[in-house]
Amino acid sequence: MQVSRKCNDPAQYDDLAAQWWDPRGAFMMLRRLAAARALVPAATGDAVLVDLGCGAGLLAPQVAGKGYRHVGVDITASALAQARAHGVAPAGCCGPGGLVVIDTIAATALARLVAIRLAERLPAVPKGIHDPDLLVDRTVMVGECARHGVELTLRGIAPSVTDLARWLVLRLDTVRMASVPTTAILFQAVGRKAVP
Ligand SMILES: C[S@@+](CC[C@H](N)C(=O)[O-])C[C@H]1O[C@@H](n2cnc3c(N)ncnc32)[C@H](O)[C@@H]1O
Repeated sequence: MQVSRKCNDPAQYDDLAAQWWDPRGAFMMLRRLAAARALVPAATGDAVLVDLGCGAGLLAPQVAGKGYRHVGVDITASALAQARAHGVAPAGCCGPGGLVVIDTIAATALARLVAIRLAERLPAVPKGIHDPDLLVDRTVMVGECARHGVELTLRGIAPSVTDLARWLVLRLDTVRMASVPTTAILFQAVGRKAVP
C-alpha cells in the first residue's frame, strides 16, 4: 500500500529505499541522469568528488575508476547507507579547481507542467516527489555560483524521445539523456571553481 506524503517529504526516499538500484524501479530516471553525469573527467592528483544529495550513490558506477575519493552528503539515512555500500564516503568539501556538475529542474511554468504535472503521471516518476515551490531559479543559481567563483555553463537535457518510446513499448532499459535547446525544464549546469 502506498503511503500518502506531502511534496518533497524526505520520508518518500525511505518508502522507496528498496527501489534505488532497481533498473525498472521508481528511480530509473535518476539512473539515466547519473549516466549523463559521466562527463566528469578522470581525477588529477588527490581529488575529491562531492556528491550533494547523493541518494543511494547511483553516480558511483559512473565515476568508478576515475580516481576520485567519492564523498556523499544526504539527509536520508537509508539512502546514505546504500551509497556507502557502493563506495561513497559520507561528508566532504569542494576547493579551488573543483568541478561542479548539477542537474535539476528550472523554476518555470513549463517545468511545473512538463516535469511535475505530466511526468508524475508516468510510471517512471514517483507521484509527489517534486515540490514545485523548490524548483531552481537559473539566474539566481548562476549568480550565486559566480559570487563563489564558479562560472556555470547550462544546457537543457531530456530523456531521448526514441529511447523513451522504446522503453514504453519494449521495456528496454536504455533511456539516455539528450541535449535539448531549452534549459527551461530539466537542465545540467557545469562549472569549475576558480583557482585564486
Ligand atoms: C532526487 S534524489 C537524487 C539522488 C542522487 N543525486 C541521484 O541522482 O541518484 C534527491 C536526494 O536529495 C536528498 N535530500 C533532499 N533534501 C536534502 C537535504 N536538505 N539535505 C541533504 N539531502 C537532501 C534526498 O534524501 C534524496 O536522496
